[in-house]
Amino acid sequence: MSFFGLSEVQRQKMEKERETHRSFENKELRVRVVTTSDRDTDEVLLLKTKCLFQKQLSKMPREYILRQVFDSKHMNMVLVNKGDDVVGGVCYRPFFEEGFVEIVFLAVDYDFQVRGMGSVMMDIFKENIKREMVEYSGMAVDRVLGAVAYRNKEFDGLDHFLSMAGDGVQRPLYIVTYADNFAIGYFRKQGFSSDLRFSRWIGLIKDYEGGTIVECRVFWEINYLRRREFIGRIRERVFRDMERVNEYHVVRRIADYSTVKEIGDIPGVRSVSPQPQCRGSLNKLISYLISDLRSNPSAWPFLKPVDAAEVPDYYEHIKRPMDLSTMQSKLEDNRYPSIEPFVEDVRLMVDNCFRYNGRDTQYYKCAQKLLDNFNSKLEFYIHAINRFSS
Ligand code: ACO
Repeated sequence: MSFFGLSEVQRQKMEKERETHRSFENKELRVRVVTTSDRDTDEVLLLKTKCLFQKQLSKMPREYILRQVFDSKHMNMVLVNKGDDVVGGVCYRPFFEEGFVEIVFLAVDYDFQVRGMGSVMMDIFKENIKREMVEYSGMAVDRVLGAVAYRNKEFDGLDHFLSMAGDGVQRPLYIVTYADNFAIGYFRKQGFSSDLRFSRWIGLIKDYEGGTIVECRVFWEINYLRRREFIGRIRERVFRDMERVNEYHVVRRIADYSTVKEIGDIPGVRSVSPQPQCRGSLNKLISYLISDLRSNPSAWPFLKPVDAAEVPDYYEHIKRPMDLSTMQSKLEDNRYPSIEPFVEDVRLMVDNCFRYNGRDTQYYKCAQKLLDNFNSKLEFYIHAINRFSS
């Protein structure tokens, strides 16, 4: 087995998904989009969709579900089997001008759950809304309803969703929903997070008790039905690059365990540990810490300097601004002779945020999360540095 091979659990998940994909290829399942916005709508299918949601979301008022499914501003993407039964569905409302779609309800029929159907349905849904967003830009507003009149659609097989959508589209697209607290684990697995970065939904979406607002960014660069291939390719590239920079894949044997007195005696450990006295290693460590900060979900307010056009009084209050791109430039110019000035810059960036923003703001919370994460990482590395340089 290669080092970047898939684990048994991942293989099983992939097989479950492939089986669901095959059900579409064999025409056992098909995708339909149905809405009362289309004057030739399919009421029977809408009634079946309503029944699915009423059955699977039994705590929701039945009339409320009925109204949402038949609302002309809403669309329903449903999975239909050969007997024309609705086995899964998503009721959603597009807000394409604001760059997002709200999931109103989502459910898979009890008999089809826990087989990967919910996951594949979300992949299809993401691909579907991408295509709808592209279509939307070319649509005319209905003169009577004053809204875009969406059309019913039917897809045999998954071919329609397997190509890349919206070539070159730059506009971000998000999905937002109030996830039932029992289903939050499912949404997390589909890329949703309660760490909100997107705010254009505020004032447009109704608040639900017993739910948590979650969001998911939909990436144009990924075809979600092929995401495992995509991730596999990236994974392979990362492991190959790692082989070039260190020997992580080399298995070293210890002939005599009695010679191992401390961690550094384990063959290979010293060669991959940060050596602070060496400039190259210090820069690598800082570079790693900057990348780690950048990839943190709470890092988005700190990626670039604050734009004075967007926050006109910022630089009146903050006299020593700092952000992650500035730290990266300082690193490239060799302006961190030791780890301390770098740590000071991270703290300065966070303190600026605490000083300018109120405690209840997303920015303040992001700064706190970023700092907590950084402190724990730093503690680990300082400990390693001290250990190996002593
Ligand atoms: N809690 C935690 N994890 C879950 C849950 C859950 N309730 N449901 C599924 N998962 C996980 C699975 O373990 C799986 O993880 P894995 O990829 O590591 O194996 C992953 O999510 C995908 O599971 P699927 O088998 O694809 O999901 P399934 O077909 O069972 O559908 C769904 C999930 C849609 C939540 C289904 O259980 C359902 O219809 N439930 C009842 C209705 C409901 O709660 N809908 C959401 C309400 S919130 C709203 O509508 C906005």
